[in-house]
Amino acid sequence: MVSLSIKTITDKQGSPVRSEIVLMDVTERIRSEAEKKRLEEELAHSARLASIGKLAMGFAHEISNPLTNIQLATELLERKTKNKAILDRVDVITKNVDLASSVVRNLLDFSRQTQLDIRPIDLGRIVEDSIEMVSPRLKNVKVVKKIGRLPNIMGDDKQLKQVFANILINAAQAMPNGGKLTVKTGVEDRFAIVSFSDTGVGISEENLRHIFDPFFTTKEVGSGTGLGLSLAYGIVKVQGGDITVESKLGSGTTFTVHMPLSAEQGGKIQ
Ligand SMILES: Nc1ncnc2c1ncn2[C@@H]1O[C@H](COP(=O)(O)OP(=O)(O)OP(=O)(O)O)[C@@H](O)[C@H]1O
Ligand SMILES: [Mg+2]
Repeated sequence: MVSLSIKTITDKQGSPVRSEIVLMDVTERIRSEAEKKRLEEELAHSARLASIGKLAMGFAHEISNPLTNIQLATELLERKTKNKAILDRVDVITKNVDLASSVVRNLLDFSRQTQLDIRPIDLGRIVEDSIEMVSPRLKNVKVVKKIGRLPNIMGDDKQLKQVFANILINAAQAMPNGGKLTVKTGVEDRFAIVSFSDTGVGISEENLRHIFDPFFTTKEVGSGTGLGLSLAYGIVKVQGGDITVESKLGSGTTFTVHMPLSAEQGGKIQ
């Protein structure tokens, strides 16, 4: 990209003497400004995540004690009565307490500052394990695996399993009437990548801007807290990776997890 400026040089009386035309290559400057903007946005996002994390943690602790008390009192009530009408109501209370408890658990997971356990890991293996773990939810889905050989990378296997599980569960939920899920691994630049492509409902452009925001959900109350992807994003970013997403409304979505290869691997498959 080029910037053009014209300067007219005048004499003491102000009459034009000559013009100077300056052409400048500003490609690099524009690129670095865009990069600066991206970094600023990323920093703001991390700060937002951290403050929401703190809030969520306090909130979850405050809510979990009364929930436990309700649970205990309900169990006592259940044992003390044989009245069907009361037992039916007790059932409703139990179900709702369970629901609220699972939201609280998700919140605690989201905000917990767990220690990273970084060691050499086999990403392909972790992907396979995650698919296996989520398989009860993938009953209507045809899973196509293109899992090639990957070099071992440094990472936290438990946390990455959670990342893949969250993406897989979302994909299953996006295909309520079944569909196809293609899981691919590979190497791109200095990153090992894992992509998950579904043939589900897709994500609108407007929603695409918010999907990594904590508590953003399009799911019904009680079926989604909107923490799955923000949690996944945080986990991957902390390990030097990234998650990207491409989607077309009505035809499907691809989530790609990028994890850095260690320096000595330099992008080569061993
Ligand atoms: N594969 C997908 N296809 C279509 N929409 C998706 C997909 N993955 C995520 N989304 C959209 O992104 C939103 C946020 O996802 P996220 O996993 O963070 O929260 P959630 O699934 O709604 O709730 P939770 O994961 O906490 O149960 C979803 O509500 C959905 O609208
Ligand atoms: Mg989810």
